[in-house]
Amino acid sequence: MSNDRDRAPHEPYFARLQAGLDRESDGVASIVLDLDRVDVNVDRVRSMWPRGKAVRLAVKSLPCIALLERLARRFETRRFMVFHPAHLAPLFAAFSDADVLFGKPLAPRAVARSLESLAPEHLGRVRWLVDSARTARELSEVARTHNQVLRAAIEIDIGLHRGGASSAEDLAAIATHFLGRDAALSFAGLMGYDGHLGRVPWPLQTISRSHARSMQRYSTLIDAADRAGLVAGDAVRNAGGSLSFMEYRDGDPSDELTIGSCLVKPAHFADKRLASLDPAMFIATPVLKRIERFVAPDGEWLGPVAGLVRGLRGPGVYVFGGRFNARPVSPTDLVANAVLGDSANQALYQLDRASALDQGDWAFFWPEESEAVMDQFDCVWAVEGDRWSRLPTLR
Ligand SMILES: Cc1ncc(COP(=O)(O)O)c(C=O)c1O
Repeated sequence: MSNDRDRAPHEPYFARLQAGLDRESDGVASIVLDLDRVDVNVDRVRSMWPRGKAVRLAVKSLPCIALLERLARRFETRRFMVFHPAHLAPLFAAFSDADVLFGKPLAPRAVARSLESLAPEHLGRVRWLVDSARTARELSEVARTHNQVLRAAIEIDIGLHRGGASSAEDLAAIATHFLGRDAALSFAGLMGYDGHLGRVPWPLQTISRSHARSMQRYSTLIDAADRAGLVAGDAVRNAGGSLSFMEYRDGDPSDELTIGSCLVKPAHFADKRLASLDPAMFIATPVLKRIERFVAPDGEWLGPVAGLVRGLRGPGVYVFGGRFNARPVSPTDLVANAVLGDSANQALYQLDRASALDQGDWAFFWPEESEAVMDQFDCVWAVEGDRWSRLPTLR
């Protein structure tokens, strides 16, 4: 090894993960889930949690039953938000007393399929979601076909404008499917998501003003729902998400908040409101080979030009897999090769000249999202102290 390559490729945190992967893994691209960091994140979220709000866990953002079990225990909750009907069976297998709220309306066919497979004792634990008179009518039709009364919450638009009732007229039209002796739907609450909070750049949005506007809309729509006759003792008033839970206050219109992503903090959630939380999930992949210089296929002419372009110059590594929906995090100098970097098979990353990363090492990436990244893999490697265990995902 030359003198300028004698640094370790990783800082101590990732060096420790690399040593564990060397010891435990199958030598292929994997997810590493740092449960110690998850636990600390839980403590920090709890310290920011508004009084009087129940926690509902977003299953799509934490698609691993063992992880959900740990979090449900820590937050003392049995409330889950589900976004895919395939998640119902494994969730109820783990939590027979789960309170499930759907986070989006489903196509009638998906509801029908779920009804065919859902155990009768779990059916009453599901709050389906309708967001318009049409989805309420369609859900009613499915309910009647299956000779059931289905519990359904109504999505309200509190500012995201992704759908949902946004006026008293909308709620009155939806209510017709819930009222009357032969209604096939029973009212199970309101769901108002504020995923826009913090995503619209200043000066178009200031968080406190936008949140206050959302709460105002929520209150107005609660009144409209009451006036439309939509009342029930066990109805929930759901709100929130990972980037907004800390804005809520005791006494505002919601009674529960959904969170998921912040607990593992993918890169898309690197926001100052979550500054106290640590990333707890990484993609780790083996370095399959190192090259000292990139020679472009049929591009020897690139020669000196390559030296000027960050994504072409210096040594490089081919890694197992690629196109990870994740950004390189260790070593920090990995830059996707401008010509061959975009491969799901063996992606090529250029390194700084002095980088020690070599064949046999691992490269680490910080996923942009936990949703649809964690469950690209069959299992995650959960690390707790020196203990490594393989946890199945909801793939
Ligand atoms: C309806 C709804 N509620 C809450 C959330 C929050 O999930 P997370 O905390 O993982 O961002 C989402 C995310 O998409 C959502 O769609």
